[in-house]
Amino acid sequence: MTTFLPESHQFSGVTAHEARNRILARVERRIQEFIAEERREWAALNPDSTELIDCVARMVGSGGKRLRPAFCIAGYLAGGGDPDSQVVVDAAAALELLHTFALLHDDVMDDSELRRNEPTAHVLHSSLHERRDWRGEPRRYGESVAVLAGDLALVYAERLLADCPPHARRTWGDLCTELMIGQFLDVRAAARFDPDPELSSWIALFKSGRYTVYRPLAMGAELAGAGHLLDAFRTYGLALGEAFQLRDDLLDAFGSSESTGKPAQLDFKQHKMTLLMSFALRGNAEVSALVGDDLTAADPQELHDLLVRTGCRDDVEATIDERLRTAQTAVQGVLDPVWSAELCTMAHQAAHRDS
Ligand code: IPE
Ligand code: IPE
Ligand code: MG
Ligand code: MG
Ligand code: MG
Repeated sequence: MTTFLPESHQFSGVTAHEARNRILARVERRIQEFIAEERREWAALNPDSTELIDCVARMVGSGGKRLRPAFCIAGYLAGGGDPDSQVVVDAAAALELLHTFALLHDDVMDDSELRRNEPTAHVLHSSLHERRDWRGEPRRYGESVAVLAGDLALVYAERLLADCPPHARRTWGDLCTELMIGQFLDVRAAARFDPDPELSSWIALFKSGRYTVYRPLAMGAELAGAGHLLDAFRTYGLALGEAFQLRDDLLDAFGSSESTGKPAQLDFKQHKMTLLMSFALRGNAEVSALVGDDLTAADPQELHDLLVRTGCRDDVEATIDERLRTAQTAVQGVLDPVWSAELCTMAHQAAHRDS
């Protein structure tokens, strides 16, 4: 068995994967305790206010792959960080709460009804509004609650970073900014509906890839004081981050709602200018003829079959494989072999997942 950190008593004889999981378990506890404490305080001040906190708790507690904490912890341990330190636990917890914020807002923007196999927050609260026979528009109420819960999750993320050192804080600032700009460009490109593969790749990276892989790894390395790993993490993180989002796009178009826990083919309904769609509309007359300038009018099954038959799906698969290879090559020979192997496995799992 490959072991790591033999000098640490607690981690003696433990694999890289197990070491990551032990810290991840502390991250889960940190999130739960933070939210429970917050709930206690607000229950005493105003019991109704706990409904908003519960909305955050419901989303963060509904599962998910925990990729951002996982990459942050991996970057930290690969950089030789002290496994008993609290600072990486707080940073990883903050990353998951930032992701919670992003999902709550994203589901409003994308008008999605399902997340992690549960009704999305805005759908749930709009039906609560209806059931309670309240005044005003249920949909508007539900969306207001989801937006506020997202805001609250972002504030919690910031509070968890209270002791984060300045250099990792700066990376956090970049990460948050990139996410917002990426999401803006995503909705803008959907509205404009002009195929542009370069822009689609850019959006995949900024709305998702950077905050999912590259920046969490970089924060981990910075917290460990391992600045010498930043170049390798940048190459790995950008390439894998893009592959991660391209897989998400393929799962949306060709996967099943049962395995993703999200609606199938929502990107078509929302005119999303994914790389898949940019390839298809730029390079394929049959797809252009079917779609015209209204993606929602095309028959989803016909579109699905055409994207497969014309090789557009394969083109995105090839891009994913190329990015995956770039990511794996970037860490081989640079990191300790145990961590290089672990990051190569994580890369494969992120690029070839089915949910
Ligand atoms: C979904 O991210 C949102 C994107 C950035 C594509 P994940 O696929 O990591 O979602 P969970 O956290 O595992 O549910
Ligand atoms: C959203 O991308 C990325 C963020 C949440 C910032 P998507 O809109 O493709 O994510 P899903 O498919 O809804 O999870
Ligand atoms: Mg979405
Ligand atoms: Mg979206
Ligand atoms: Mg998606």
